[in-house]
Amino acid sequence: MYAERVLSGMRPTGSLHLGHYHGVLKNWVKLQHEYPCLFFVADWHALTTRYDDPQGIVEASWDMVVDWLAAGVDPARATLFIQSQVPEHAELHLLLSMMAPLGWLERVPTYKDQQEKLENKDLSTYGFLGYPLLQSADILIYRADKVPVGEDQVPHIEFSREVARRFNHLYGREPGFEEKARETVRKLGSKRARRYEELRTYYQQQGERLAIERAHALLDEVHDLSHVDRERLCGYLEGTGKMILVEPGALLTAASRMPGLDGQKMSKSYGNTITLREDAASVTHKLRRMPTDPARIRRTDPGDPENCPVWQLHQVYSDDNCRAWVQQGCRSAAIGCLDCKQPVIDGILREQAPMRERAQPYLDKPQLVREIIADGSAKARHLARETMRDVRQAMGLDYR
Ligand code: TRP
Ligand code: SF4
Repeated sequence: MYAERVLSGMRPTGSLHLGHYHGVLKNWVKLQHEYPCLFFVADWHALTTRYDDPQGIVEASWDMVVDWLAAGVDPARATLFIQSQVPEHAELHLLLSMMAPLGWLERVPTYKDQQEKLENKDLSTYGFLGYPLLQSADILIYRADKVPVGEDQVPHIEFSREVARRFNHLYGREPGFEEKARETVRKLGSKRARRYEELRTYYQQQGERLAIERAHALLDEVHDLSHVDRERLCGYLEGTGKMILVEPGALLTAASRMPGLDGQKMSKSYGNTITLREDAASVTHKLRRMPTDPARIRRTDPGDPENCPVWQLHQVYSDDNCRAWVQQGCRSAAIGCLDCKQPVIDGILREQAPMRERAQPYLDKPQLVREIIADGSAKARHLARETMRDVRQAMGLDYR
């Protein structure tokens, strides 16, 4: 019924690192060749935890977009925009807030988790509680059926599905639907009407799909049934309304194995990152300082790659040959740790070179980035407005 569409967003947290590249951006770059894609900067979402310090969100947003472009996200293929430039997200969020049960929001696992994790901040705010609902609005407003996210975001996608279902249930019906449906049933003639009612009851009580098929076959027999009548009877049969908002699905992104400089997952909060466009001297310096197997105190001590975070980086950056060289050389102390690190340094620099190159024109001419976002936001807004027209109409808020 609706075209396939991918949508994803990222909060502007400042410069992105190689963990973002391997965990998210590489996947976006792939998806942009497979589906129509929308990627956006979730700047309002950043406010939910940064309401006391909003300065810097704008700059972090521009930096992040440059990183996307550097990673190979192509504005000629994907629509790139900034959430706050499409104010319809806020309108849908407001309308959804009227029908979103508080209990659903309180039960979203990230709510309590994040509150506990960021305990030095007062997150008992309306906006923070509503985070998943704003995210639902982001998704539903584009009728996106595919949302690439990591594992941690899956509950938010499920929540969005429930919100869409509830919305369709509440507003996806014409006024007086039940009554009109019953009237239409009478048009079937008494014998068929009785049979239809039996099948309907059977389906609603037993959930037996076969009953639906039989009922459809029954309706097929009635040749003078109008399209509208038929739709109505099908909806009445299954207890569904019209689909105004599309239930999205998560497109689960495999967890990134990208290790940081200390062997833990690469993350800004661990201070173990290499940024996407970090300069070569700094990358080299960080890698050379990286801890290795603690058993290798002297150059002549043999080591075990399994106890060494550098080995984890070899998993990402080296081929089988090189990895065999590391295994053999480390265990026999034939190579030193600096020798071992060199192919990783080379691999990272090789990966970053095209990114730095792609970013350069945007750094030279920031206006280009502004134009990409203005263009993308206008496109997104066009889609968002279409959905809002249907939403307002379904809710009876159509003043034309
Ligand atoms: N909550 C997401 C995150 O923290 C960001 C986000 C906001 C998002 N709105 C979205 C992701 C809509 C996918 C779709 O990563
Ligand atoms: Fe780690 Fe390589 Fe040194 Fe072995 S040789 S401890 S794998 S850095």
